[in-house]
Amino acid sequence: MKKIAVVGSINMDLVVESDSLPKKGETILGNNFFSGPGGKGANQAVAAARLGGDVAFFGSLGKDYFGSELEKNLTDERVKPYIRYDENQSTGVALINVYDDDNSIIVVSGANNIYTEGYLAQLKGELIQFDIVLFQLEINDSLVFELIDYLSNHHKIIILNPAPAKKIAPSIIDKITYLTPNEHECQIIFDSQESIETLVQRHPEKLIVTCGEKGVCYYDGQVQVVPSMDVANIVDTTGAGDTFSGAFAYGIGRGDTLIKAIQFANVAAGLSITKKGAQAGMPQLSEVEKETLESRVRKP
Ligand code: RIB
Repeated sequence: MKKIAVVGSINMDLVVESDSLPKKGETILGNNFFSGPGGKGANQAVAAARLGGDVAFFGSLGKDYFGSELEKNLTDERVKPYIRYDENQSTGVALINVYDDDNSIIVVSGANNIYTEGYLAQLKGELIQFDIVLFQLEINDSLVFELIDYLSNHHKIIILNPAPAKKIAPSIIDKITYLTPNEHECQIIFDSQESIETLVQRHPEKLIVTCGEKGVCYYDGQVQVVPSMDVANIVDTTGAGDTFSGAFAYGIGRGDTLIKAIQFANVAAGLSITKKGAQAGMPQLSEVEKETLESRVRKP
């Protein structure tokens, strides 16, 4: 099993369930509130660790109550925390609205947004001991892109889940082993109106596009669409993309072929949306294995 490092964000999620979203100037009543650990980076680390991966998380927290709760959560989930504490910033917070089988999120990055030459050098020194490094774009993107450049020179497997999406230079894309956007993020990162089918053909066995219930699209000589699970009881889709990327890293780390890692991650993501909260629904390995591909995968 390869060693996985996740470099990314860690937030406290403050979640409101409602029937709709308020319009500008409007107040509406929500149905329920809960809080829980989140942040795309921490979520992906927890997803891989819950499946049995050897996972470390590199991120930054404020010296506050949320910060200590979130570090404890990583340890409880068997993720090795490499945390930098920021004296001047609060821990990142995500305000999440869950409604209509979907969600919308505002993130206040706080301590997540760190970039200093010293921190970059420290990360380079630490990350060299890992085989797979998984990134997102919810922390300072210069930090991410400089680390990708450095780690590709050291022949590491680099996975980027480009969320939240922004345009990425082709020179960076060349250095990434696997890119895992959803279909909306895909067109933003390439700054292109081309179809998903065209884009995956330009990036064979690298670009893996999650398209919700339509499945996962990639190209390996022909355009492949791996069907998603048929989930009858969708409870909360928050963290489904994170579960996919964390489970995909785990699958690659244990030596799965690309198709097998995608199928595995697809089932893990399908299971994750049957419980409330970003991390609560992330499955154990036995749950993914029990969910055979035949049983609940959508028919094309
Ligand atoms: O992808 C879901 C995550 O996005 C949430 O946990 C929230 O913290 C935001 O980062």
